[in-house]
Amino acid sequence: MCRILKQCVTHLFHIMIDTVSIIQRFYEPDSDLYKLLLLHSRQVAQLAEHLGQRLIAHGTPVDLDFVVEAAMLHDIGVINTDAPGIYCYGTEPYICHGVIGRKMLDDIGLYRHALVCERHTGAGLALSEIEERGLPLPHRDLLPVSIEEKLVCYADKFYSKSHPEKIRSLEVARYKLEKFGPATIERFDAMSSLFGEPDYSLLHSSE
Ligand SMILES: [Fe+2]
Repeated sequence: MCRILKQCVTHLFHIMIDTVSIIQRFYEPDSDLYKLLLLHSRQVAQLAEHLGQRLIAHGTPVDLDFVVEAAMLHDIGVINTDAPGIYCYGTEPYICHGVIGRKMLDDIGLYRHALVCERHTGAGLALSEIEERGLPLPHRDLLPVSIEEKLVCYADKFYSKSHPEKIRSLEVARYKLEKFGPATIERFDAMSSLFGEPDYSLLHSSE
């Protein structure tokens, strides 16, 4: 199938959704957490879109509309976690925010977006890593599979909700993943080879 036809088929089945309205179903718009989540989600969406556009320019089909939507929703599960440093006053461990987000989006029928939530933590988590580390997560692979899932996962590693004022260099993004172990670093390096370093000059500040 030629590239243009592939792009058309991909887009044919995609109906745009209003991600901010979806976030507002779960978050109080005046809250610090809502403002931080929206800022972070927009940062990740902008970077994922930039990297996706570069792939498309080199002939790789990417569903960019979906990438932007999924990036906007990827952290929707943080609200139920215990991370007061970023205004999250729930009870679940922070590492569970992806699977919490998956359930929230599954419940409103956004099954494809939901998978992005549960597959974006670290550089994804394999079942073996979840078991070895005794993580409080479902015993299955939580790994990004599609190019769109990988784009959101990778773009997310360049931003921190604790320090939203800056974007990380590739080196720092990689360093921050070292705590997840060598398999994570290997997957990050594979995504890095695929997507490259962001062109920082093309990203405008979303503060
Ligand atoms: Fe994130």
